[in-house]
Amino acid sequence: MGPTRRIILCEMLYLSVFSTGAFAANTAHATVASASPYVLNVFTAASNLSNGVQVKSDEAIIEVRALSDDVLRVRVGLNGKMPEDASWAVSTEARQSSASVSAESNASTVGFRTGSLRVKIARKDLHLSITDLEGNVLQEDAPGWPVTFHDQNFRVYKTMPDDEHYFGLGDKMGALDRRGQSFIQWNTDAYKFQESTDPIYKSIPFFLTVHQGRSIGVLFDNTWCSSFDFGKQTSGIYSFGADGGALDYYVVYGPDPKRVLNRYAWLTGLPPLPPLWSFGFQQSRYSYETEKRLREIATKLRADKIPSDVLYLDIDFQQQNRPFTIDSQKFPNFAGMIHDLRQQHFRLVTITDLHIAHLPDSNYIPYTTGIAGDHFVKNPDGSVFVGTVWPGPSVFPEFTRQSTRDWWGQLYANFIAEGVSGFWNDMNEPSVFQTPTMTMPIETQHRIDEPGFSKRTANHLEIHNVYGMENSRATYEGLLKLSPNQRPFVLTRASYAGGQRYAATWTGDNSSTRNHLRLTVPMLLNLGLSGFGMSGADVGGFAGTPQPDLLTKWIELATFQPIDRDHTEKTSADQEPWVHGPEQESIRRRYIEERYRLLPYLYTAAEEMTRTGVPIVRPLFLEFPAATADGHPLDLDTPNQFLFGSDLLVAPFGFPDELDSYNVVLPPGDWFDYWTGKKVAGTLKIQPQLDVLPVYARAGSIIPMQPLTQSTDEIPQGPLTLRLYPGPNCSGSIYQDDGTTLNYKKGDYLRVNFSCEVTDSGLRIHVGVMEGNYHPWWKQYAVQVAGWDSDSARVLIDGKQDANVTSSVGANHMLTLSFPAGREVELQVNHKLR
Ligand code: GLC
Repeated sequence: MGPTRRIILCEMLYLSVFSTGAFAANTAHATVASASPYVLNVFTAASNLSNGVQVKSDEAIIEVRALSDDVLRVRVGLNGKMPEDASWAVSTEARQSSASVSAESNASTVGFRTGSLRVKIARKDLHLSITDLEGNVLQEDAPGWPVTFHDQNFRVYKTMPDDEHYFGLGDKMGALDRRGQSFIQWNTDAYKFQESTDPIYKSIPFFLTVHQGRSIGVLFDNTWCSSFDFGKQTSGIYSFGADGGALDYYVVYGPDPKRVLNRYAWLTGLPPLPPLWSFGFQQSRYSYETEKRLREIATKLRADKIPSDVLYLDIDFQQQNRPFTIDSQKFPNFAGMIHDLRQQHFRLVTITDLHIAHLPDSNYIPYTTGIAGDHFVKNPDGSVFVGTVWPGPSVFPEFTRQSTRDWWGQLYANFIAEGVSGFWNDMNEPSVFQTPTMTMPIETQHRIDEPGFSKRTANHLEIHNVYGMENSRATYEGLLKLSPNQRPFVLTRASYAGGQRYAATWTGDNSSTRNHLRLTVPMLLNLGLSGFGMSGADVGGFAGTPQPDLLTKWIELATFQPIDRDHTEKTSADQEPWVHGPEQESIRRRYIEERYRLLPYLYTAAEEMTRTGVPIVRPLFLEFPAATADGHPLDLDTPNQFLFGSDLLVAPFGFPDELDSYNVVLPPGDWFDYWTGKKVAGTLKIQPQLDVLPVYARAGSIIPMQPLTQSTDEIPQGPLTLRLYPGPNCSGSIYQDDGTTLNYKKGDYLRVNFSCEVTDSGLRIHVGVMEGNYHPWWKQYAVQVAGWDSDSARVLIDGKQDANVTSSVGANHMLTLSFPAGREVELQVNHKLR
């Protein structure tokens, strides 16, 4: 028993044992025997701290501190000293927070108690356990598997109960539940990744556990190549470790999983509120190569009445792929084109990759100013590191320095002046061509010059996994400096824990195949559980060309995802919604239109995410943590179903390559078919149909919707619709603001809460006060009550009849009430029989 062998997967990556670039997940089992592991299992001394406990094991120090009643930090220092207390992920404020604790020691353990947790370390062997105050074990070391070091490499082993489940770690491959799988964290350009590919683009070393209805979160804050194993290598044990850096992890207590996400956001930050237009339909490809072609796409989207907001320019708009240039042959009138596109209500997002073309003596401003400011990453001998990427030989900014990030941010000034609305930071793992490791050599030197860190040089092993995040941070902070009152929109491919503060993300180079459509659901759900709630997958798939039905199904599903961006690679066929003829296009249009109708609901969910850390798309267990008798996550019984916001359940076929019927398992309570208004419950048998994506609304929800528009610039004409699905705890809300500026922070927003109650005689509906200074576009409400089983209704507003209120019962038992907006009202709706 015990960890005498060392897991060597990271070294296998650097040494590129596999030259293909795709590292199969089963490499995670590679181990080597080690001569003398250093094992932390000897108790030498202990002392109480005001916020925790410190234990010595010969020269090693183990500290467990409470940052708050429900957030613990565990750190280990070797050779008698603690490592530097700095982090790219966790804010200084959170790291320096402290909760007072009550020391609790006895003959066999030392430890303490907070307002909600108890920590014990065994004197016998340093076994660490964390329980709630009722004694339920939340996390404990695996007995006989102490923390073990092999030189710089170390590993932590935890007991893995048979009925515990694991979620998070960003958009890693595999099933939603990480149980039985293992993963490497090493940001990797994974073109055409497949279901067995690991690692891929991001490293987000955070996971949630769900055990008998109780959740905790674990952030292993280590930027080096690290790995996680959930019982794949040794059954009954999960483990995590790294190839260097500090042993530093946080345990975040729920027990409700939403609370875990909230506390994780307290540690690593919330995503900023994205601009409203980024929730519109986005059309991209690698590449719209000329101004003429981009204008054609814009014109066709409007002519075909495909609601849309954003067009993308990929690398070919640049001169020879050089970032921050424009090919004036292909785009002769760049600013004029952007101006014209804005007239058509389009926004433009351009790619700005991080690699700067290595062009001495060419008056290429990013290179000359970068060299002048000493802004590029260096080789050990002090020369600038040059690697090949899209522009050919390229140099790489030192994003770990504040001054370099400031310089990078300034590079956006011209694009901002020309009217570009958002920026796309790609290739920032960083991807480097023609090297066996597909990235910088590990000896490359990075200078750290950053508040909180000691000023020092680190090699690429330490910085690799945060490089992409710091690239997107430089962009985000730069954009805010250039346009201080505009919300930046940055899309990044690589990132690390905390990267949600700076950028939205997408899942990289997926394929136009049915299994990739299925993969988008667990990938986006786990991203959301890892802090990245603003995310998307290339709609239609990047590599290859989708069959007509597949593109249609993909557009249907993406309607209910945070980012809805159609994108494809250079050599593939056209992939815009109109390809494949009018029948397919009309289905696609219908779904995109539905997304626009649902924008008030989607935007309200987005705002909730930016306050609470709860993502827009959610696994079912997040909303229904107590839905199963034994507390297992409901999602294990309902593969590929998910929630869009808190109230809409989306149920795509788990295996879209089969045509058989499938079961949808609804969470407890009543639901309504979103498309037909019919009340449903329990398990439903669904026969797949090309033009139907099953969606259900929770009984007890009120969903704000708007009249159809062709873009988010357009002011909706007509009432704000409140789709009301009667049921228990019936409520809903709407959040609105101007959609682009930061004025909402100064009170220019609007929030209205709605509630309803089913009574013996009908329904009581409450429309709350308008909170905030923002004046909405609607003058009227149209409340649509689903499942109304009377022929008509008698409506009282604030107890009186009012001529301004109209009611009618339409198709699908839908009662519609219309009345003026503007003040708090209470409606009483009674059955009125014929
Ligand atoms: C990478 C990106 C892809 C982009 C291409 C060209 O493969 O992941 O989205 O289109 O580079 O810039």
